[in-house]
Amino acid sequence: MDDLDALFALYSDADVKKYVYSEAMTHEETKEELEWAIKVYAEQPGFGLWATIYKETGEFIGRCGLLQWTIEERPEVEVTYMLSKKYWGQGLGTEIAQALMQYGFEQLKLPRLICCIDKENQASINVATNLGMIFEKEMDTGEGPELLYSKTLVD
Ligand SMILES: CC(C)(COP(=O)(O)OP(=O)(O)OC[C@H]1O[C@@H](n2cnc3c(N)ncnc32)[C@H](O)[C@@H]1OP(=O)(O)O)[C@@H](O)C(=O)NCCC(=O)NCCS
Repeated sequence: MDDLDALFALYSDADVKKYVYSEAMTHEETKEELEWAIKVYAEQPGFGLWATIYKETGEFIGRCGLLQWTIEERPEVEVTYMLSKKYWGQGLGTEIAQALMQYGFEQLKLPRLICCIDKENQASINVATNLGMIFEKEMDTGEGPELLYSKTLVD
């Protein structure tokens, strides 16, 4: 919970949350999400949302993780990443996503990973393709169209 204020500051940047949350996140909603994330660590070992720490300074610069969802009745694991704007454009998003993918395939032995991305979110699309993910289909999530990218171990 010590990361709550840093997480709220991250979500308070309209550019950062633009393609992830349709509405602004309040401090209370951020707290509820963080409580949920902490619960996931216990209930789904190996999965969840994690603080992203800049090694040189120890600064909280974002959140990333592997999240389990059921999408169109199929169990899926999503690679998710979000960085403070100050750290965009240095290859960190790709570095984070590659580390998550490696962890998912090698440690958790997952057969498949996905990214769900807003059509307009070119930076995130580039991160997914940098991972070797391929475009699978467009989905209607109820919050507008999203692109499903995926990678399986045999790709
Ligand atoms: C997505 C995100 C993590 C990318 O982080 P990043 O550290 O800037 O990513 P990288 O530096 O590894 O760049 C990845 C690619 O996107 C491109 N890119 C970066 N920002 C871009 C932008 N605003 N518009 C278009 N392309 C962009 C880079 O040129 C790079 O392309 P390349 O690998 O083909 O050269 C970051 O933009 C972010 O936190 N966005 C807000 C949260 C979000 O939308 N998360 C994803 C939800 S699906």
